[in-house]
Amino acid sequence: MRKKLVVGNWKMYGNSIENEQLLNSIVAGLTGLQIEQCAVCVPYPYLPSVQNKLNNTNISWGAQNVSQYQKGAYTGEVSTSMLNDFGCTFVIIGHSERRSLFGENNDIVAEKYVAAQGGKLTPILCVGETLEQRERGITEQIIQEQLMTIINKAGVESLSKAVVAYEPVWAIGTGKTAAPNQAQEVHTFIRNSIGTQDMTIAKELTILYGGSVKANNAAELFAMPDIDGGLIGGASLVADDFVAICNTLNN
Ligand code: PGA
Repeated sequence: MRKKLVVGNWKMYGNSIENEQLLNSIVAGLTGLQIEQCAVCVPYPYLPSVQNKLNNTNISWGAQNVSQYQKGAYTGEVSTSMLNDFGCTFVIIGHSERRSLFGENNDIVAEKYVAAQGGKLTPILCVGETLEQRERGITEQIIQEQLMTIINKAGVESLSKAVVAYEPVWAIGTGKTAAPNQAQEVHTFIRNSIGTQDMTIAKELTILYGGSVKANNAAELFAMPDIDGGLIGGASLVADDFVAICNTLNN
């Protein structure tokens, strides 16, 4: 059976004091969840303290980006082995903010995906269309291109060690969630499209939905047959909301 998962993406928010409070409440609120059903992806400087806090809990952690290079003169970059040093399980790859604000195209995203897997991290590969692309009716084409660059570079079998997150760009941080059936439609497309290459991998693949998931809409989204959990931005910074969203997985 494929795994269900909720991942918090803290983005560039938080500080030592706020993080400590947030993590205390999350750990206390999530005692009933199975291991690896819930994770937080945090800014690099907080990885040591997050590791300290979450070690021996049922919550995993990871980063929001990683370099495609192993080491070298790459000022400001962080490698997969550095993330290994702090016990990361996951790394978000190709988030739309990385694509649109930091120039990460499909090829760079694929290089980072390969680097992550080579470094024994589980990539959470983000795909999704902009509003303009949806209105032009090219959502499936865009997502197909995003997936195919990965499959061409890393092989379809690489998806057995990855998580995919469908995040319509128009729903991220806007309060506009995709309707459950609208999201389900794209999740089915993603699963079928991978299924044409390998049905077993497609069936086992965890596909998260991301984009304004909140405590009050998580249940109806996660009830969709091809939505296996969520990638949560804003609501992952509010302990009660994040705990409620994670606990939705067990309902
Ligand atoms: P949001 O962000 O939940 O704040 O819309 C989701 C994301 O960017 O992963």
